Amino acid sequence: MQFPAATPTAPAAPAPTALRVELGERSYPILIGSGLLHSPELLARDVRHRDILLVTNTVVAPLYADELERSLAEGPAHGGSNASRATRRIVRVVLPDGEQHKTLATAGRVFDVLIANRFGRDALVMALGGGVVGDLAGFVAACYQRGVDLVQVPTTLLAHVDSAVGGKTAVNHPGGKNLIGAFHQPRAVIADTDLLRTLPDRELSAGLAEVIKYGLIRDAGFFDWLEDNVEALLAREPAALAHAIRRSCEIKAQIVGSDEREHGERALLNLGHTFGHAIESAGGYVGTLHGEAVAVGMLIATDMAARLGLADAALLVRLRALLGRARLPLLAPPIGARRALEYMRIDKKVQSGRVRLVLPVGLGDATVSADYPDAALAETLGAWFGP
Ligand code: NAD
Ligand code: GLY
Repeated sequence: MQFPAATPTAPAAPAPTALRVELGERSYPILIGSGLLHSPELLARDVRHRDILLVTNTVVAPLYADELERSLAEGPAHGGSNASRATRRIVRVVLPDGEQHKTLATAGRVFDVLIANRFGRDALVMALGGGVVGDLAGFVAACYQRGVDLVQVPTTLLAHVDSAVGGKTAVNHPGGKNLIGAFHQPRAVIADTDLLRTLPDRELSAGLAEVIKYGLIRDAGFFDWLEDNVEALLAREPAALAHAIRRSCEIKAQIVGSDEREHGERALLNLGHTFGHAIESAGGYVGTLHGEAVAVGMLIATDMAARLGLADAALLVRLRALLGRARLPLLAPPIGARRALEYMRIDKKVQSGRVRLVLPVGLGDATVSADYPDAALAETLGAWFGP
Protein backbone atom coordinates (compact mmCIF):
# COMPACT_ATOMS: atom_id res chain seq x y z
CA MET A 1 0.00 0.00 0.00
CA GLN A 2 1.35 3.43 -0.88
CA PHE A 3 0.49 6.85 0.44
CA PRO A 4 1.46 10.19 -1.04
CA ALA A 5 4.33 12.20 0.37
CA ALA A 6 1.98 14.31 2.49
CA THR A 7 0.86 11.28 4.54
CA PRO A 8 3.76 8.82 4.44
CA THR A 9 3.17 7.50 7.95
CA ALA A 10 -0.56 8.01 8.28
CA PRO A 11 -1.72 6.81 11.73
CA ALA A 12 -4.38 4.10 12.14
CA ALA A 13 -6.86 6.51 13.73
CA PRO A 14 -6.10 9.92 12.24
CA ALA A 15 -6.87 13.06 14.22
CA PRO A 16 -9.89 15.08 13.02
CA THR A 17 -9.22 17.30 10.03
CA ALA A 18 -10.99 20.62 9.60
CA LEU A 19 -11.43 21.86 6.05
CA ARG A 20 -13.41 24.92 5.08
CA VAL A 21 -15.71 25.83 2.24
CA GLU A 22 -14.95 29.51 1.65
CA LEU A 23 -18.13 31.39 0.75
CA GLY A 24 -17.74 34.69 2.57
CA GLU A 25 -20.15 34.99 5.46
CA ARG A 26 -21.68 31.64 4.50
CA SER A 27 -18.35 29.80 4.87
CA TYR A 28 -18.48 26.62 6.88
CA PRO A 29 -16.29 23.85 8.26
CA ILE A 30 -16.07 20.25 7.14
CA LEU A 31 -14.95 18.24 10.12
CA ILE A 32 -13.58 14.81 9.23
CA GLY A 33 -12.53 12.31 11.86
CA SER A 34 -13.22 9.37 14.11
CA GLY A 35 -15.53 9.58 17.15
CA LEU A 36 -17.06 12.97 16.33
CA LEU A 37 -20.57 11.82 17.25
CA HIS A 38 -19.34 11.06 20.76
CA SER A 39 -18.00 14.54 21.30
CA PRO A 40 -20.64 16.92 22.71
CA GLU A 41 -18.07 19.73 22.89
CA LEU A 42 -17.15 19.35 19.27
CA LEU A 43 -20.78 19.21 18.12
CA ALA A 44 -21.58 22.24 20.24
CA ARG A 45 -19.18 24.38 18.22
CA ASP A 46 -21.58 24.36 15.29
CA VAL A 47 -24.84 23.29 16.91
CA ARG A 48 -26.07 25.86 19.39
CA HIS A 49 -29.72 25.82 18.42
CA ARG A 50 -32.50 25.18 20.87
CA ASP A 51 -34.87 23.43 18.45
CA ILE A 52 -33.45 20.67 16.30
CA LEU A 53 -35.22 18.54 13.74
CA LEU A 54 -33.17 15.39 13.27
CA VAL A 55 -33.96 13.87 9.88
CA THR A 56 -32.80 10.30 9.35
CA ASN A 57 -34.12 7.03 7.96
CA THR A 58 -35.20 3.58 9.08
CA VAL A 59 -31.75 2.06 8.50
CA VAL A 60 -29.59 4.77 10.07
CA ALA A 61 -31.85 5.67 13.01
CA PRO A 62 -31.33 2.43 14.98
CA LEU A 63 -27.57 2.64 14.37
CA TYR A 64 -26.73 6.24 15.23
CA ALA A 65 -29.68 8.48 16.10
CA ASP A 66 -29.71 7.78 19.86
CA GLU A 67 -25.97 8.35 20.08
CA LEU A 68 -26.20 11.67 18.25
CA GLU A 69 -29.19 12.85 20.28
CA ARG A 70 -27.36 11.98 23.50
CA SER A 71 -24.35 14.06 22.49
CA LEU A 72 -26.59 16.93 21.44
CA ALA A 73 -28.47 16.81 24.72
CA GLU A 74 -25.19 16.92 26.67
CA GLY A 75 -23.69 19.81 24.75
CA PRO A 76 -24.25 23.48 25.48
CA ALA A 77 -27.11 25.05 23.56
CA HIS A 78 -28.20 28.54 22.71
CA GLY A 79 -25.24 30.42 24.18
CA GLY A 80 -24.23 27.60 26.46
CA SER A 81 -26.43 28.16 29.50
CA ASN A 82 -27.71 25.20 31.49
CA ALA A 83 -31.22 26.58 31.36
CA SER A 84 -31.28 26.59 27.58
CA ARG A 85 -29.72 23.11 27.45
CA ALA A 86 -32.57 21.89 29.61
CA THR A 87 -35.06 23.32 27.15
CA ARG A 88 -33.41 22.00 23.99
CA ARG A 89 -35.96 20.19 21.86
CA ILE A 90 -34.88 17.43 19.51
CA VAL A 91 -37.61 16.03 17.31
CA ARG A 92 -36.74 13.03 15.20
CA VAL A 93 -38.22 12.25 11.78
CA VAL A 94 -37.50 8.78 10.43
CA LEU A 95 -37.99 8.51 6.69
CA PRO A 96 -38.44 5.34 4.69
CA ASP A 97 -35.16 4.16 3.18
CA GLY A 98 -34.34 4.54 -0.49
CA GLU A 99 -33.92 6.87 -3.44
CA GLN A 100 -37.54 6.22 -4.49
CA HIS A 101 -38.62 8.15 -1.38
CA LYS A 102 -36.63 11.28 -2.24
CA THR A 103 -39.84 12.99 -3.31
CA LEU A 104 -41.95 16.05 -2.68
CA ALA A 105 -44.45 13.83 -0.85
CA THR A 106 -41.77 12.74 1.65
CA ALA A 107 -40.56 16.32 2.03
CA GLY A 108 -44.19 17.26 2.73
CA ARG A 109 -44.21 14.87 5.69
CA VAL A 110 -41.15 16.59 7.11
CA PHE A 111 -42.75 20.04 6.70
CA ASP A 112 -45.79 18.67 8.55
CA VAL A 113 -43.59 17.73 11.53
CA LEU A 114 -41.87 21.13 11.60
CA ILE A 115 -45.21 22.90 11.54
CA ALA A 116 -46.89 20.57 14.04
CA ASN A 117 -44.04 21.30 16.47
CA ARG A 118 -44.18 25.03 15.74
CA PHE A 119 -40.52 25.20 14.89
CA GLY A 120 -39.46 28.75 14.06
CA ARG A 121 -36.82 30.35 11.89
CA ASP A 122 -34.16 29.76 14.53
CA ALA A 123 -34.59 25.99 14.26
CA LEU A 124 -31.91 23.68 12.90
CA VAL A 125 -32.47 20.82 10.49
CA MET A 126 -29.87 18.14 11.00
CA ALA A 127 -29.47 15.46 8.34
CA LEU A 128 -28.18 12.12 9.62
CA GLY A 129 -27.85 9.76 6.68
CA GLY A 130 -26.60 9.26 3.18
CA GLY A 131 -27.19 11.47 0.18
CA VAL A 132 -30.91 10.73 0.02
CA VAL A 133 -31.56 11.95 3.57
CA GLY A 134 -29.08 14.82 3.13
CA ASP A 135 -30.60 16.06 -0.13
CA LEU A 136 -34.15 15.85 1.17
CA ALA A 137 -33.47 17.35 4.58
CA GLY A 138 -31.44 20.07 2.89
CA PHE A 139 -34.34 20.84 0.58
CA VAL A 140 -36.68 21.09 3.56
CA ALA A 141 -34.22 23.40 5.36
CA ALA A 142 -33.95 25.57 2.24
CA CYS A 143 -37.74 26.01 1.99
CA TYR A 144 -39.06 26.00 5.55
CA GLN A 145 -39.90 29.58 6.49
CA ARG A 146 -37.73 30.59 3.50
CA GLY A 147 -34.69 28.91 4.95
CA VAL A 148 -33.46 27.61 8.29
CA ASP A 149 -30.04 26.36 9.35
CA LEU A 150 -28.82 22.98 8.17
CA VAL A 151 -26.07 20.72 9.49
CA GLN A 152 -25.06 17.64 7.53
CA VAL A 153 -23.97 14.49 9.36
CA PRO A 154 -23.17 12.15 6.46
CA THR A 155 -23.23 8.39 7.04
CA THR A 156 -22.25 6.97 3.63
CA LEU A 157 -18.94 7.36 1.84
CA LEU A 158 -20.74 9.09 -1.01
CA ALA A 159 -22.21 11.63 1.38
CA HIS A 160 -18.84 12.16 3.12
CA VAL A 161 -17.08 12.98 -0.13
CA ASP A 162 -19.82 14.62 -2.15
CA SER A 163 -23.47 15.15 -1.28
CA ALA A 164 -23.03 16.62 2.23
CA VAL A 165 -20.71 19.33 0.89
CA GLY A 166 -21.66 22.12 -1.46
CA GLY A 167 -25.26 23.00 -0.72
CA LYS A 168 -27.09 21.22 -3.52
CA THR A 169 -30.43 20.03 -2.18
CA ALA A 170 -33.23 18.38 -4.12
CA VAL A 171 -35.98 15.86 -4.49
CA ASN A 172 -36.74 13.76 -7.55
CA HIS A 173 -39.73 13.97 -9.88
CA PRO A 174 -41.08 11.02 -11.88
CA GLY A 175 -39.89 12.95 -14.93
CA GLY A 176 -36.28 13.18 -13.77
CA LYS A 177 -33.78 13.18 -10.97
CA ASN A 178 -33.13 16.15 -8.65
CA LEU A 179 -35.39 18.37 -10.76
CA ILE A 180 -36.89 20.19 -7.78
CA GLY A 181 -34.40 21.76 -5.43
CA ALA A 182 -32.42 24.70 -4.18
CA PHE A 183 -28.90 25.74 -3.29
CA HIS A 184 -28.71 25.91 0.49
CA GLN A 185 -25.31 25.63 2.14
CA PRO A 186 -25.04 23.84 5.46
CA ARG A 187 -23.65 25.59 8.55
CA ALA A 188 -21.31 22.65 9.05
CA VAL A 189 -20.54 19.16 7.81
CA ILE A 190 -19.66 16.69 10.55
CA ALA A 191 -18.17 13.62 8.89
CA ASP A 192 -17.53 10.90 11.47
CA THR A 193 -15.62 8.19 9.64
CA ASP A 194 -16.58 5.57 12.27
CA LEU A 195 -20.09 5.55 10.82
CA LEU A 196 -18.75 3.96 7.65
CA ARG A 197 -18.03 0.71 9.52
CA THR A 198 -21.64 -0.43 9.15
CA LEU A 199 -21.98 0.59 5.51
CA PRO A 200 -22.71 -2.36 3.18
CA ASP A 201 -19.83 -3.19 0.80
CA ARG A 202 -21.89 -2.30 -2.24
CA GLU A 203 -22.57 1.19 -0.85
CA LEU A 204 -18.87 1.67 -0.09
CA SER A 205 -18.07 0.89 -3.72
CA ALA A 206 -20.77 3.32 -4.87
CA GLY A 207 -19.06 6.05 -2.84
CA LEU A 208 -15.72 5.16 -4.42
CA ALA A 209 -17.16 6.07 -7.82
CA GLU A 210 -17.40 9.71 -6.70
CA VAL A 211 -13.92 9.53 -5.17
CA ILE A 212 -12.50 8.26 -8.47
CA LYS A 213 -14.37 11.08 -10.22
CA TYR A 214 -12.27 13.66 -8.33
CA GLY A 215 -9.06 12.07 -9.54
CA LEU A 216 -10.34 11.93 -13.10
CA ILE A 217 -11.47 15.57 -13.30
CA ARG A 218 -8.87 17.32 -11.16
CA ASP A 219 -5.96 15.35 -9.73
CA ALA A 220 -3.97 12.78 -11.71
CA GLY A 221 -1.75 12.12 -8.65
CA PHE A 222 -4.84 11.24 -6.61
CA PHE A 223 -5.99 8.89 -9.38
CA ASP A 224 -2.56 7.18 -9.23
CA TRP A 225 -2.92 6.94 -5.44
CA LEU A 226 -6.36 5.37 -5.84
CA GLU A 227 -4.91 2.78 -8.21
CA ASP A 228 -2.36 1.91 -5.51
CA ASN A 229 -4.84 1.93 -2.63
CA VAL A 230 -8.23 0.75 -3.89
CA GLU A 231 -7.97 -2.57 -2.03
CA ALA A 232 -7.07 -0.74 1.22
CA LEU A 233 -10.16 1.40 0.73
CA LEU A 234 -12.36 -1.63 0.15
CA ALA A 235 -10.87 -3.12 3.35
CA ARG A 236 -11.84 0.16 5.09
CA GLU A 237 -8.32 0.83 6.35
CA PRO A 238 -8.82 4.00 8.41
CA ALA A 239 -5.78 5.88 7.10
CA ALA A 240 -6.65 5.15 3.49
CA LEU A 241 -10.29 6.13 3.97
CA ALA A 242 -9.32 9.31 5.80
CA HIS A 243 -6.96 10.33 2.99
CA ALA A 244 -9.53 9.60 0.26
CA ILE A 245 -12.25 11.55 2.08
CA ARG A 246 -9.99 14.48 2.87
CA ARG A 247 -8.62 14.83 -0.67
CA SER A 248 -12.12 14.50 -2.17
CA CYS A 249 -13.50 17.15 0.18
CA GLU A 250 -10.55 19.46 -0.52
CA ILE A 251 -11.25 19.29 -4.24
CA LYS A 252 -14.98 19.74 -3.78
CA ALA A 253 -14.55 22.62 -1.32
CA GLN A 254 -12.22 24.42 -3.72
CA ILE A 255 -14.59 24.04 -6.68
CA VAL A 256 -17.70 25.03 -4.69
CA GLY A 257 -15.81 27.99 -3.21
CA SER A 258 -15.07 29.36 -6.65
CA ASP A 259 -18.34 28.46 -8.43
CA GLU A 260 -21.12 27.91 -5.90
CA ARG A 261 -24.03 28.12 -8.37
CA GLU A 262 -22.49 26.09 -11.16
CA HIS A 263 -21.95 28.81 -13.72
CA GLY A 264 -18.64 27.26 -14.72
CA GLU A 265 -16.23 24.72 -13.27
CA ARG A 266 -18.68 23.18 -10.78
CA ALA A 267 -20.32 21.45 -13.74
CA LEU A 268 -17.19 19.26 -13.91
CA LEU A 269 -18.40 17.59 -10.71
CA ASN A 270 -21.18 16.15 -12.83
CA LEU A 271 -18.86 13.99 -14.89
CA GLY A 272 -20.78 10.79 -15.63
CA HIS A 273 -23.96 12.14 -14.06
CA THR A 274 -25.91 13.04 -17.20
CA PHE A 275 -25.51 9.52 -18.57
CA GLY A 276 -25.92 8.13 -15.04
CA HIS A 277 -29.17 10.01 -14.43
CA ALA A 278 -30.63 8.38 -17.55
CA ILE A 279 -29.79 4.98 -16.05
CA GLU A 280 -31.31 5.90 -12.68
CA SER A 281 -34.42 7.54 -14.12
CA ALA A 282 -35.12 4.71 -16.54
CA GLY A 283 -34.88 2.27 -13.63
CA GLY A 284 -37.36 4.24 -11.51
CA TYR A 285 -34.57 4.94 -8.96
CA VAL A 286 -34.41 1.32 -7.86
CA GLY A 287 -31.91 -1.37 -8.80
CA THR A 288 -28.92 0.80 -9.67
CA LEU A 289 -27.28 2.87 -6.92
CA HIS A 290 -26.42 6.48 -7.69
CA GLY A 291 -22.66 5.84 -7.46
CA GLU A 292 -22.99 2.78 -9.70
CA ALA A 293 -24.82 4.82 -12.32
CA VAL A 294 -22.11 7.49 -12.08
CA ALA A 295 -19.42 4.83 -12.60
CA VAL A 296 -21.00 3.63 -15.83
CA GLY A 297 -21.72 7.24 -16.80
CA MET A 298 -18.02 8.13 -16.40
CA LEU A 299 -17.11 5.26 -18.71
CA ILE A 300 -19.62 6.43 -21.32
CA ALA A 301 -18.33 10.03 -21.06
CA THR A 302 -14.74 8.83 -21.45
CA ASP A 303 -15.69 6.68 -24.42
CA MET A 304 -17.45 9.67 -26.01
CA ALA A 305 -14.36 11.82 -25.39
CA ALA A 306 -12.18 9.16 -27.03
CA ARG A 307 -14.51 8.97 -30.04
CA LEU A 308 -14.23 12.75 -30.39
CA GLY A 309 -10.44 12.59 -30.14
CA LEU A 310 -10.45 14.63 -26.91
CA ALA A 311 -9.08 11.85 -24.73
CA ASP A 312 -6.74 8.95 -25.33
CA ALA A 313 -8.43 5.55 -25.60
CA ALA A 314 -5.93 4.35 -22.98
CA LEU A 315 -7.75 6.51 -20.41
CA LEU A 316 -10.89 4.43 -20.90
CA VAL A 317 -8.88 1.26 -20.32
CA ARG A 318 -7.35 2.66 -17.13
CA LEU A 319 -10.65 3.97 -15.78
CA ARG A 320 -12.44 0.71 -16.51
CA ALA A 321 -9.73 -1.22 -14.67
CA LEU A 322 -9.95 0.98 -11.57
CA LEU A 323 -13.76 0.98 -11.45
CA GLY A 324 -13.73 -2.81 -11.87
CA ARG A 325 -11.27 -3.21 -8.99
CA ALA A 326 -13.56 -0.94 -6.92
CA ARG A 327 -16.30 -3.52 -7.63
CA LEU A 328 -18.43 -1.14 -9.65
CA PRO A 329 -20.55 -2.09 -12.66
CA LEU A 330 -18.99 -1.55 -16.07
CA LEU A 331 -22.01 -1.99 -18.35
CA ALA A 332 -25.14 0.09 -18.95
CA PRO A 333 -28.62 -1.46 -18.89
CA PRO A 334 -30.10 -2.07 -22.36
CA ILE A 335 -32.67 0.73 -22.22
CA GLY A 336 -32.05 1.86 -25.80
CA ALA A 337 -30.23 4.95 -27.05
CA ARG A 338 -33.41 6.91 -27.77
CA ARG A 339 -34.81 6.46 -24.28
CA ALA A 340 -31.47 7.33 -22.72
CA LEU A 341 -31.36 10.55 -24.74
CA GLU A 342 -34.90 11.46 -23.65
CA TYR A 343 -33.84 11.31 -20.02
CA MET A 344 -30.63 13.19 -20.75
CA ARG A 345 -32.66 16.00 -22.34
CA ILE A 346 -34.26 16.91 -19.02
CA ASP A 347 -30.88 17.12 -17.31
CA LYS A 348 -30.14 20.43 -15.57
CA LYS A 349 -27.11 21.00 -17.80
CA VAL A 350 -29.31 21.36 -20.90
CA GLN A 351 -28.99 24.86 -22.38
CA SER A 352 -31.11 26.09 -25.30
CA GLY A 353 -32.31 22.55 -25.79
CA ARG A 354 -28.78 21.16 -26.13
CA VAL A 355 -27.34 18.58 -23.74
CA ARG A 356 -24.00 19.82 -22.39
CA LEU A 357 -21.63 16.99 -21.61
CA VAL A 358 -18.76 16.78 -19.17
CA LEU A 359 -15.95 15.04 -21.02
CA PRO A 360 -12.51 14.02 -19.73
CA VAL A 361 -9.67 15.44 -21.81
CA GLY A 362 -6.88 13.58 -20.03
CA LEU A 363 -6.20 12.26 -16.58
CA GLY A 364 -7.00 15.01 -14.05
CA ASP A 365 -8.66 17.28 -16.57
CA ALA A 366 -12.15 17.61 -18.05
CA THR A 367 -14.24 20.06 -20.01
CA VAL A 368 -17.93 20.89 -20.50
CA SER A 369 -19.01 20.85 -24.13
CA ALA A 370 -22.15 21.35 -26.16
CA ASP A 371 -20.06 21.41 -29.30
CA TYR A 372 -20.04 17.81 -30.51
CA PRO A 373 -21.59 16.11 -33.53
CA ASP A 374 -24.99 14.63 -32.70
CA ALA A 375 -23.92 11.52 -34.58
CA ALA A 376 -21.08 10.96 -32.11
CA LEU A 377 -23.51 11.08 -29.18
CA ALA A 378 -25.96 8.78 -30.98
CA GLU A 379 -23.17 6.29 -31.74
CA THR A 380 -21.91 6.36 -28.16
CA LEU A 381 -25.40 5.90 -26.72
CA GLY A 382 -26.10 3.08 -29.18
CA ALA A 383 -22.87 1.33 -28.20
CA TRP A 384 -23.71 1.45 -24.49
CA PHE A 385 -27.51 1.34 -24.24
CA GLY A 386 -28.33 -0.58 -27.41
CA PRO A 387 -30.35 0.72 -30.39
P1 NAD B 1 -28.41 6.58 0.33
O1 NAD B 1 -28.61 7.83 1.03
O2 NAD B 1 -29.59 5.91 -0.25
O3 NAD B 1 -27.65 5.56 1.29
C1 NAD B 1 -27.31 4.30 0.80
C2 NAD B 1 -27.86 3.16 1.69
O4 NAD B 1 -27.02 3.02 2.82
C3 NAD B 1 -29.25 3.41 2.21
O5 NAD B 1 -29.93 2.19 2.28
C4 NAD B 1 -28.98 3.93 3.61
O6 NAD B 1 -30.06 3.75 4.50
C5 NAD B 1 -27.80 3.09 4.01
N1 NAD B 1 -26.91 3.67 5.00
C6 NAD B 1 -26.56 4.97 5.12
N2 NAD B 1 -25.60 5.12 6.03
C7 NAD B 1 -25.36 3.88 6.53
C8 NAD B 1 -24.47 3.39 7.51
N3 NAD B 1 -23.58 4.17 8.12
N4 NAD B 1 -24.50 2.07 7.79
C9 NAD B 1 -25.36 1.25 7.13
N5 NAD B 1 -26.21 1.65 6.18
C10 NAD B 1 -26.20 2.96 5.88
O7 NAD B 1 -27.37 6.77 -0.88
P2 NAD B 1 -26.07 7.67 -1.07
O8 NAD B 1 -25.24 6.92 -2.03
O9 NAD B 1 -25.48 8.07 0.21
O10 NAD B 1 -26.63 8.98 -1.74
C11 NAD B 1 -27.19 8.98 -3.03
C12 NAD B 1 -27.99 10.24 -3.20
O11 NAD B 1 -27.13 11.37 -3.08
C13 NAD B 1 -28.68 10.38 -4.52
O12 NAD B 1 -30.00 10.80 -4.33
C14 NAD B 1 -27.90 11.45 -5.24
O13 NAD B 1 -28.67 12.16 -6.16
C15 NAD B 1 -27.45 12.30 -4.10
N6 NAD B 1 -26.25 13.10 -4.37
C16 NAD B 1 -26.30 14.43 -4.07
C17 NAD B 1 -25.20 15.21 -4.27
C18 NAD B 1 -25.24 16.65 -3.88
O14 NAD B 1 -24.29 17.38 -4.20
N7 NAD B 1 -26.25 17.10 -3.18
C19 NAD B 1 -24.00 14.65 -4.77
C20 NAD B 1 -23.99 13.29 -5.04
C21 NAD B 1 -25.12 12.52 -4.84
N1 GLY C 1 -22.32 16.52 -7.00
C1 GLY C 1 -22.25 17.62 -7.90
C2 GLY C 1 -22.14 18.94 -7.23
O1 GLY C 1 -22.16 19.04 -6.03
O2 GLY C 1 -22.04 19.92 -7.90
